[in-house]
Amino acid sequence: METKQLIYQNNMHDTIEEAAALLKAGEVVAFPTETVYGLGADATNEDAVQKIYRAKGRPGDNPLIVHVADKEQLETLVTDYPNYVDQLIEAFSPGPITYVLKSNHRVTSTVTGGLGTVGIRIPKHPVTQELLKACQLPVAGPSANLSGKPSPTTAQHVMDDLQGRIPAILDGGLANVGVESTVIDCTKEIPVILRFGQITQFDLEKIVGTVHISDVKNSDTPKSPGVKYKHYVPEVPLVLMDEDDVIPFVQKEKALGKKVGVLTTKKDDINIGIDKQFIIGESIQEMAANLYHILRAMKQTDVDIVIAYGFTKEKAGSAVMDRLCRAATTNYSLKE
Ligand code: TXA
Ligand code: MG
Repeated sequence: METKQLIYQNNMHDTIEEAAALLKAGEVVAFPTETVYGLGADATNEDAVQKIYRAKGRPGDNPLIVHVADKEQLETLVTDYPNYVDQLIEAFSPGPITYVLKSNHRVTSTVTGGLGTVGIRIPKHPVTQELLKACQLPVAGPSANLSGKPSPTTAQHVMDDLQGRIPAILDGGLANVGVESTVIDCTKEIPVILRFGQITQFDLEKIVGTVHISDVKNSDTPKSPGVKYKHYVPEVPLVLMDEDDVIPFVQKEKALGKKVGVLTTKKDDINIGIDKQFIIGESIQEMAANLYHILRAMKQTDVDIVIAYGFTKEKAGSAVMDRLCRAATTNYSLKE
């Protein structure tokens, strides 16, 4: 199948109409959002939803986020929810936040992963908003990458992964947040963060008081199945380490004839035989916006390994730290 690129520019609404028509016909279409590109299909159409899993190679027990245009449309998909959800929607939606609510089963059970709950997001990106209004459907949409690859922040990233596997991509330019939405379980008295994103625990607590963080590692049945998978695996090994370990590590790798890259916040004149620097930026926003592009770009260079050092939650924020830790190779021994 040839993948058509529908490039949205200069208010070319026909590209949006074409993407909406494909969704209404039960096809999958990649679309831009402010966080990352999504791979969309009608959330009420089981055959259409199955096409998402096939195109991505995604495990079947991992539920999908459903995108809606506004709060009214959200309410058509769920049963009752706690009052704090109204406050969160008022403060953060449209935007990079997903609410896990009790499903009224209008979306297919494949979308909910059989959990009885549905993750719903009201995206802010103007092109996504127009697309949702044009198709009048709740649109199931995981990130538009092959399963296990970093999420795509440009239409080109989507093409690199899914060309020939999907009928069309709606190209709306760069996804500028860069990391996926904050996911919050809103089925309990106290909201629980299931996945970190641009909207932080601190931001949420300012609006609704106490917010918990899911302890995925200590739970037998993770509330958010996606977090148990090791996402974002770059093709070049990425190793996180303390600053003190960098010099001996680089020396050892160089002695083995390896080419070594570093992931760093700004251009550094370190003279320790580094072959390539990947500069991610100094603010939390810049780091988030550049991270996935860099993880993808690493394999287009000739480095054999990349080291990242000096990244902390304070400097990089919870979302970037979470994604860096997931991308990192954990079985790479410093001692060997
Ligand atoms: O920013 C985003 O959220 C992007 C854009 C395209 O909107 N979407 C995205 O979707 O990242 P995806 O499918 O790659 O990640 C969805 C995450 C997974 O970790 C999944 O397990 C969790 O949300 N999730 C979805 N529905 C859920 C539910 N009903 N209960 C618990 N977790 C859910
Ligand atoms: Mg994803």
